[in-house]
Amino acid sequence: MNRFLKACRRERVDRPPVWVMRQAGRYLPEYQRVRRQAGDFLTLCRTPELAAEVTLQPIRRYDFDAAIVFSDILTPLVPMGVDLTFTPAPHIANPLRTPEDVNRIVAPEPWQGTEFLSETLRRVRAELDQGTALIGFCGAPWTLATYLVEGATTRSFSHAKAFALHHPEAFDRLLDRLVEAMAAYLRTQVENGAQVLQLFDSWVGALGPEDARRWALAPARRLLGLIADTGVPRIYFAHGGSHLLDDLRDMPCEVIGLDWRADLVRATATLPEHALQGNLDPGVLMGPPAEIRRRTRAMLEAAPRTGYIANLGHGVTPDVPVAAVGAFVQTVQEFRY
Ligand code: CP3
Repeated sequence: MNRFLKACRRERVDRPPVWVMRQAGRYLPEYQRVRRQAGDFLTLCRTPELAAEVTLQPIRRYDFDAAIVFSDILTPLVPMGVDLTFTPAPHIANPLRTPEDVNRIVAPEPWQGTEFLSETLRRVRAELDQGTALIGFCGAPWTLATYLVEGATTRSFSHAKAFALHHPEAFDRLLDRLVEAMAAYLRTQVENGAQVLQLFDSWVGALGPEDARRWALAPARRLLGLIADTGVPRIYFAHGGSHLLDDLRDMPCEVIGLDWRADLVRATATLPEHALQGNLDPGVLMGPPAEIRRRTRAMLEAAPRTGYIANLGHGVTPDVPVAAVGAFVQTVQEFRY
C-alpha cells in the first residue's frame, strides 16, 4: 500500500506523504497552456482528456504522493439545476433567496450528470503508478450552501446567514439535500477509481462555534457517515476551523485537514484519533527558498510521527513561483522519521 493511504490509517511510513491543495492550477505554466487550449474553465473540467492531463502535470513535475482529480466543488451543482459560470470567479445566475427556491435544488436519482469526472478518474488511475493515491472530493454542505445562496464568493456571508436565520427549516432542508446528493456523487467517484475522499469546508471559518456545529459540522458529519461503507479514507478540511478543534474529535473521518492558523502540537493533542493534514501558510511560498525549507522542517518536527500528511494550510495561489513549491515538496521528500 502506498505511503499516503498508510498515513491516512495512522500506520508507520518512512517519511510524511505530501501533496498540495490546488496543485493543478494557474501557478504551473503547463496548466496555463492546457487552460488556454480548453478556452473556458468548465470546458476544461468537462473534457476528460484535458482534465486528466492537468491532474497529472503536478505529479510529473513534483512526484507528489497523491493526485487530486481536476474539477471544482461547484461542478456537481449543475446537474442539480444550478446555472454556473466561471470568470474565473464562480457565478451562479439563479441563487436561492426564498424557502421555495430550495425546491429547485433536486439531485438526479440515481446520481448522473458528472460522467466527465468518472471518465477523468478512470484515465488518471490508469496512468498513475501504485505508489500514488487518487483523491476525489466535494464541497461540504455548508460551503456549497453559501455559494447557492450568495451566488458567488462572499466576504460577509450576509445572504447565507440571513437565509439560515430567517428560514431555518428551509435552510436545513437545503443542507439535507446537499448531504444526500454529495454522498451519491462521492460514491460515484469511488466506483471510478478515487481511493481517498476530501470534503472541502472552505467557509466553516465564517461561523461562530454554535452556528458551525449546526450548519457546518452536523451536515458534514452526516455526509461522512453516509460514505463510511465505501471503505476509503475520508479527509475533512476545516478551513478557518481552528476554533472548532474540540468539536472535530468525533468527526467520522480518518483525517482532519488543518489550515495554518491551527497549532500542530495542540491539534495533535486534541485529535488523537485522527490523522492530521496540513498546514504551512501558502503565503510562506512567497518567501525565499531557504526560509521555505526552514518553515517546512519546523512544521514536520511539530507534526505527529504517525498519521500525518504534509500539505499547505489552503490552496497554492496563482502567483507562487514553481521553484517555491519545489522547495516545499523536496524538503518533505528528504525528511526521514
Ligand atoms: O488541484 C486541485 O486542487 C484540483 C482542482 C480544484 C479546483 N478547485 C480547480 C480550480 C479544487 C479541489 C477546487 C476546490 C474549490 N473550488 C474550493 C475549495 C478549496 C478552497 O480553495 O477552499 C472552492 C471554494 C472552489 C470555488 C472556486 N473555484 C473559486 C472561489 C474559484 C475562483 C477563484 C480562483 O482561484 O480564481 C474557482 C475556480 C478554479 N477552480 C480554478 C481552478 C484551477 C481557477 C480557474 C481557471 O483556471 O481559470
